[in-house]
Amino acid sequence: MLKSLLPDRPGTGPLAEAFRACRTHFLGAAVFSALINLLYLTPTLYMMQVYDRVVPTGGLTTLVLMTAVAVFALACLSVLDWLRSRLLLRAGLRLDRMLSARILSRVVNLQTKSPNTQALREFDNVRSAVSGAGALALFDAPWTPLYLGCCFLLHPAIGILTLVGGLVLFALAWLNERDSRSRLSKAIQSNVAAYAAQESIAAQAEVVRALGMRKASIANQIEQRRGAVALQADAQLQGGRYSGAIKFVRLALQSAALGLAAFLVVKGQISPGSIIASSVLLSRAVAPVELLVGAWPGLVQARTSWNHLVELFAQTAGEDRPRTGLPPPAGRLRVDGATVRLPDLDKPVIQNVAFALDPGQTLGIIGPSGSGKTTLARVVAGSLKPTGGVVRLDGAEYDARDGDDLAQFIGYLPQSPSLFAGSVRDNISRFVAATGVEKEAVDRGAVEAAMAAGAHDMILRLPNGYDTVLGPFGAGVSAGQAQRIALARALYGDPALLVLDEPNSNLDQEGEAALMVAVLKAAARGAAVVIVAHRAGVLARVDRLLLMRDGLMQMEGPREEVLSRIRPSTPPVRKEA
Ligand SMILES: Nc1ncnc2c1ncn2[C@@H]1O[C@H](COP(=O)(O)OP(=O)(O)O)[C@@H](O)[C@H]1O
Ligand SMILES: [Mg+2]
Repeated sequence: MLKSLLPDRPGTGPLAEAFRACRTHFLGAAVFSALINLLYLTPTLYMMQVYDRVVPTGGLTTLVLMTAVAVFALACLSVLDWLRSRLLLRAGLRLDRMLSARILSRVVNLQTKSPNTQALREFDNVRSAVSGAGALALFDAPWTPLYLGCCFLLHPAIGILTLVGGLVLFALAWLNERDSRSRLSKAIQSNVAAYAAQESIAAQAEVVRALGMRKASIANQIEQRRGAVALQADAQLQGGRYSGAIKFVRLALQSAALGLAAFLVVKGQISPGSIIASSVLLSRAVAPVELLVGAWPGLVQARTSWNHLVELFAQTAGEDRPRTGLPPPAGRLRVDGATVRLPDLDKPVIQNVAFALDPGQTLGIIGPSGSGKTTLARVVAGSLKPTGGVVRLDGAEYDARDGDDLAQFIGYLPQSPSLFAGSVRDNISRFVAATGVEKEAVDRGAVEAAMAAGAHDMILRLPNGYDTVLGPFGAGVSAGQAQRIALARALYGDPALLVLDEPNSNLDQEGEAALMVAVLKAAARGAAVVIVAHRAGVLARVDRLLLMRDGLMQMEGPREEVLSRIRPSTPPVRKEA
């Protein structure tokens, strides 16, 4: 039963490291548990002494003395118990300090279709198990043999009763665990899925309303929710049945111990003081079993969560390794054999793409929808790690720099602008103000970038100019405005490499003209520029063209050359969605 609580894989890396850092806390808690469990014998010893020494002799001095000792011992017990809880709570806080930022950073780095957005919640499950009743039960469980031994010392028959009773309880607990394990984890999983579905519907409520999907989506959610709730109730009912049986067995055992002790007293085999002592000892011996059963769902949930965290860290391994700082790149881009495979697709999304771009050069990526242009742009922007091949900036692989370090040299405008909740200024400056960069520098950088993007006047016309606060996902500006703000964000800090994915898809004439100026200016100052586009406006000025089809690079070369080769069959510039 205990084995199933241990993580599946021996943890290395930050998770294990954090737990190792709390070793002294856990060791302290273990030592305190030893003392606490020894002190729990106080009432038993006291009772036996009172019955066997004080009552027969009437020695009141002895009674006073013994009472004083017992009270002192019990006070120590309470203090130790309190200290132990504090230690475990501190261990939880320490884990939080060491891991929460790392977990968030891993979540951001994770590249799967369904990112683990619950990671922090899962971490909280682990943390509360570490400082909660479950952990206390686990610390107390090893002391069961102590009480069992004392029972045997009282009388072998009482020892045997405790042993057999304990085994019965343990068997019940094991059955409980066996029956409820799959139910519990199923319930947890479907609960997580139901919450996630709810969140995504709530985030897109407007579309749901406009497309008349309200009833359908509610029905869908309710069905999911009912499933989750039913599974949970099922797991609880199952667990409840066993905990009822366990309670009954424990109460029956206590009475049986009293009865057996009384019988032994009548037979003259033990002293009268042992009657109550045996009952007390027996209940202490079997208490951890009951405690564990109560704490079991929480522990199982913590274990599931732990495994998810281990998985998260394994999937993003190598993120935190130390890296030598490299000088800022000039913008020499080399893409070599870039291939992206997705786990659930047989065919690579892009395969073996290779090209080179020098500072000051512009490259247009063209091709039909679904040909892999966005995927290639993401690889070049460093937002997606290719499964094969390498991308280098000034000779250094992207992986040679840590994520944020690399990102400051790359300006990326994704296909959907993806703005965040916060002011326009913060969006343009990539929220660096939160990392302690000076306000003047941030303001200047944001305004310069907006000017370079030709978006300065448009931003000043917003209700609060640069201080206009956008809602979640950048709500509050039009698609065209969002795209221009996102262009300014890409230009923030004069990056050496600019990657623009259909930057003109929502732009009007004025916006497109501003975009052209921005691209040419960036190239003139020496940036390498990669633009995914359909429309002639942007492509007319690029130096090179790259044609994608079905994930393969069909052609790449100087613009005129590529155009003359594709002109006979297909028009180079097509309007597509
Ligand atoms: N996360 C993903 N999961 C599954 N398929 C994907 C994913 N991302 C891209 N694809 C597939 O890869 C192909 C290329 O997509 P994309 O690069 O967006 O093309 P483009 O930008 O040229 O329209 C598409 O067929 C798309 O279905
Ligand atoms: Mg695309």
